[in-house]
Amino acid sequence: MSGNRTILRAAEIIKEGGIVAFPTETVYGLGADAFNPLAVARIFEVKRRPYFDPLIVHVAHPADVKKLVKEIPSNAKKLIERFWPGPLTVVLFKEEDIPEIVTAGLSTVAIRMPNHPMALSLIKESKCPIAAPSANPFGYLSPTTAEHVQEQLGDQVDLILDGGPCLVGVESTILSFLEEKPRLLRPGGVSLEEIESIIGKVEVSPKEDDKPSAPGMLPRHYAPRTPIVLGWDEKNLDIYKNKKIGLLAFQETKNHLKFHSVEVLSKKGDIREAAANLFAAIRRLDALDLDLIMAESIPEIGLGRAIMDRLRRASQSLTSSPLVGGEKGEGELL
Ligand code: TXA
Ligand code: MG
Repeated sequence: MSGNRTILRAAEIIKEGGIVAFPTETVYGLGADAFNPLAVARIFEVKRRPYFDPLIVHVAHPADVKKLVKEIPSNAKKLIERFWPGPLTVVLFKEEDIPEIVTAGLSTVAIRMPNHPMALSLIKESKCPIAAPSANPFGYLSPTTAEHVQEQLGDQVDLILDGGPCLVGVESTILSFLEEKPRLLRPGGVSLEEIESIIGKVEVSPKEDDKPSAPGMLPRHYAPRTPIVLGWDEKNLDIYKNKKIGLLAFQETKNHLKFHSVEVLSKKGDIREAAANLFAAIRRLDALDLDLIMAESIPEIGLGRAIMDRLRRASQSLTSSPLVGGEKGEGELL
């Protein structure tokens, strides 16, 4: 559904404690009033998401952050000025009144202002910040079209706003400001290079003693059902001789004949275009009942870092996931 009246209807649903799927520039989100714990609880149920995984709070104006956090460090301010609305999420110390279910009991909150007119109108008309994870079952690929949401969660959400395909295609970059030096928790739609050009070096390695503070950082996440192997060469193809294999190619490839099916992310090798196509292309391959998907590596510059991060997580073996504990498909996967 789309159009102004539909947005007003969606806002009514949010105010009444319902849940609405909505487009952002990165991926589709599944939103509820951030100050309504029962509504937020429904998001966790529908996604089958563990309660230790906090949500991002979406605002419609940078000034709305003040009410949600204790203080905004100057580096966070600079990035907000430069990149909002846009695919950057900042993690800051939270104000007490944000419900615990939103932040998984942490003393911090993740906040972003999405760059999509429908998302912004929805938040404004709802007159509350909207807590929203990506609108996919936990552990599966994020949706980049309204149809993806419809296929996987359609009968369980109150309304799906259709804003067309997401232009960025990978989730927001998450940056935490809890320590002296900002730390990258998840590479995403704003590149590390862009961030560092404004605030200088940021920490990119995970904190040593850390439990994964963002399940988007769990080894196996963003995973399709078909196993993915990252990187391939002719030798690999020999090993998998009688298997049905799909190729996820970065640019135009001459190897079509060697594979059952090929998805090219960007014919001309444009990383932005590749990111925008990534999840939909993996979904198409995943629907073909393949034995294996082989994915080409992409240069880790700009958005390439976020793409490779998602591909690495999608390609982790099931048993190496801390949540799976040897049980195939338990927990982290659908
Ligand atoms: O682009 C995006 O960020 C999309 C759109 C819908 O805005 N949202 C999204 O949400 O990707 P989700 O829930 O799929 O991923 C949010 C990540 C999770 O991995 C979560 O653990 C992390 O953000 N996160 C949320 N609050 C946090 C906090 N206080 N500290 C550290 N990580 C946090
Ligand atoms: Mg997600």
